[in-house]
Amino acid sequence: MCVFFLNKKNIATFAHINNFNPTNHFSEHLNRIMDKEIVLSGIRSTGNLHLGNYYGALRNFVRLQDIYDCNFFIADLHALTTNPDPQQLHASVKQILAEYLAAGIDPEKATIFIQSDVPEVAEMYLLLNMHVGIGELMRTTSFKDKARKCLGIGPAKDDDDEAFEKQIIGAETNKRVNAGLLTYPTLMAVDILIQKATKVPVGKDQEQHLELTRRFARRFNSFYGVDFFPEPQNFNFGAAAVKVPGLDGSGKMGKSEGNCIYLVDNPKTLKKKVMRAVTDEGPKEPNSPVSEPIANLFSLLELTSTPEIVKQYKDAYADCSIRYGDLKKQLAEDILKVTTPIRERVNDILADEDYLRKVVNRGAEKARERASKTLAEMRQIMGIRRF
Ligand code: TRP
Repeated sequence: MCVFFLNKKNIATFAHINNFNPTNHFSEHLNRIMDKEIVLSGIRSTGNLHLGNYYGALRNFVRLQDIYDCNFFIADLHALTTNPDPQQLHASVKQILAEYLAAGIDPEKATIFIQSDVPEVAEMYLLLNMHVGIGELMRTTSFKDKARKCLGIGPAKDDDDEAFEKQIIGAETNKRVNAGLLTYPTLMAVDILIQKATKVPVGKDQEQHLELTRRFARRFNSFYGVDFFPEPQNFNFGAAAVKVPGLDGSGKMGKSEGNCIYLVDNPKTLKKKVMRAVTDEGPKEPNSPVSEPIANLFSLLELTSTPEIVKQYKDAYADCSIRYGDLKKQLAEDILKVTTPIRERVNDILADEDYLRKVVNRGAEKARERASKTLAEMRQIMGIRRF
């Protein structure tokens, strides 16, 4: 009974990945989640997953599923904020689902679902928005960055908020900033609060959204005089949130930045990308300061290699014997060690539509159970009551 939605092939896959024992697994799972803290996180479905998603999120998801009541979802409603092509949006949801599974998230341990399969989220988004200020939303860094991109204006400066606001309001229809982009943090807060999650493993770029979630939770509780929503915290096993740099010399790895290494990149493409990464002219004197593009390569090496290898290249930098070509080759090899097992599983999983459907249907059912309870209570608290 416990494995009713896994076919034989996938049982074998998961047995292999997770030491999965189909006979007693489900009851163990139930025992474990009874009074465990609730973990929730999601990734927007805007294309394949990249190394930033892996180190910022996915890697932790896999480690967390053995310890907590884990809920991992695909944020397709958030993806709508940038108006994707409908075909591509659907393909991306499917791809990410397969990548979650290929990376080792086990549907017998964690709840895996698609955001839009939980309609309670949409209703709570309406309710929570009544307690969210448009000013605080407009000051959110991710909104400013994305709105600037929509309007085709350069990176944010601190002192031009007023001009920026005028541009948003006066924008032509073909360059408009949609309201969904503004209320992105409300929707993210709803994802978290509707499941009453307390631990939210995310990368550094999401910390401001989490701070807003805590603020909205506190505001709701104090407005209605209730102790209803817990305040969620980031979770990275005690370490600081991870920022994964791109290969273009500055900033983080991101799909819109076009500087990504995808988990499904084949070895040739991946090596080519790494070999083309921006560097500098190399250290001229011993113990020179490290420029940003090189610091970024070291950061990637720290994530993917052993401490000995990192030390070897840092020493070589310090005594000027480093050759960036060697560093990049090493880096490409070490990245491939991480991505290859995932890449090799993805296509098999993608081909098994029945299995994918069963995973998300089961996930939606579980996610909706808690979501509908929270929503019903929230409506009561706010005075939306049945006659
Ligand atoms: N905003 C997140 C990102 O871009 C995705 C996301 C949506 C999320 N809702 C969430 C992450 C809730 C954690 C919890 O990566």
